[in-house]
Amino acid sequence: MNYKEEIIKLKNELDVTIAAHFYQKDEVFELGDIVGDSLELAKKAMNCDSKNIIFCGVGFMGESVKILAPQKRVLMPKVACCAMAKMIDVEFFNSNLKILNQAGISNDDILPITYINSSAAVKAAVGKMGGYVCTSSNAFKIIQKGLESGKKIFFVPDRCLGQNFANQIGLKSAVIGIDDIEDVKQADIICYNGFCSVHQLFTPEDIDFYKEKYPDIIVAVHPECDVQVVNKADFIGSTSQLIKYITQDLDPEQKVVVGTEFNMVNRLRDKNTYVLSSTKPECPTMNETTLKDLYQTLLSIQNETFENEIEVTSEVTKYAKLALERMFEV
Ligand code: 13P
Ligand code: SF4
Repeated sequence: MNYKEEIIKLKNELDVTIAAHFYQKDEVFELGDIVGDSLELAKKAMNCDSKNIIFCGVGFMGESVKILAPQKRVLMPKVACCAMAKMIDVEFFNSNLKILNQAGISNDDILPITYINSSAAVKAAVGKMGGYVCTSSNAFKIIQKGLESGKKIFFVPDRCLGQNFANQIGLKSAVIGIDDIEDVKQADIICYNGFCSVHQLFTPEDIDFYKEKYPDIIVAVHPECDVQVVNKADFIGSTSQLIKYITQDLDPEQKVVVGTEFNMVNRLRDKNTYVLSSTKPECPTMNETTLKDLYQTLLSIQNETFENEIEVTSEVTKYAKLALERMFEV
């Protein structure tokens, strides 16, 4: 079967918008009616005209759209769970708060901020405590806004994002479970011990290798990379910021090595043939979605069986939405 042709046919017949994240396989990405990073897709999807949204990405992204636009039907060809988002649930969130409480920091002195890469339930727990959601493109602003409260920031689940932004602002950070509890008590930004297994593939040695081989090369990385990698980089940016920097700001002849997900890096080569990547860091969960899955999801809309429909309870929606809306206000 030619899935591509069948998908285009069905998509033209049905009341549906296909959203595709930049990390999707090329053949899926090219069929997206809307494409972007997680924040752009959430905004575009909630404002689109269709009743049905097929979200090609990872679970937390589909959930975010459902929370922001509960009147829409959100379906995912694969409800693949981002490895980092899976590192935290409400129980872990609460047990980490308990560690802080036992160290003498009360919940009244803590403002939680969750990276968008977390479940709706974790976002709701954060929302209940007056906290925020952030993405890698607005984390700097959200953390600064959070600091205005005079409280300590409890940043979940990505320790790297918390540490890297603390360094950029010149603040002290510490990771629960890694750093000494006395350091945690002194920190302005207290990080949960989660990380992205894909962005962990980039090492400081990779950067040294490229800089030695091509002395004028530029190193551009995502802030989910380790602190030691980010400290050696020339440019640090979210998914969309990296795309803009490489395709618009850099000379097309400039050699650049990029530390982020492979599908996106590879696509950048259409604009700049000197884009290099130290490994082939494909995100396994983003890569789960295939054309066949997308076709079957469309078919389920036609048959009204609605496979892999995303549901979020009204209680979770209420508080998770608060945390997301606080982000949009900033
Ligand atoms: P964006 O928020 O930039 O889309 O990134 C999500 C992500 O999973 C990065 O690894
Ligand atoms: Fe999650 Fe990392 Fe994949 Fe992004 S690249 S979706 S953070 S596992």
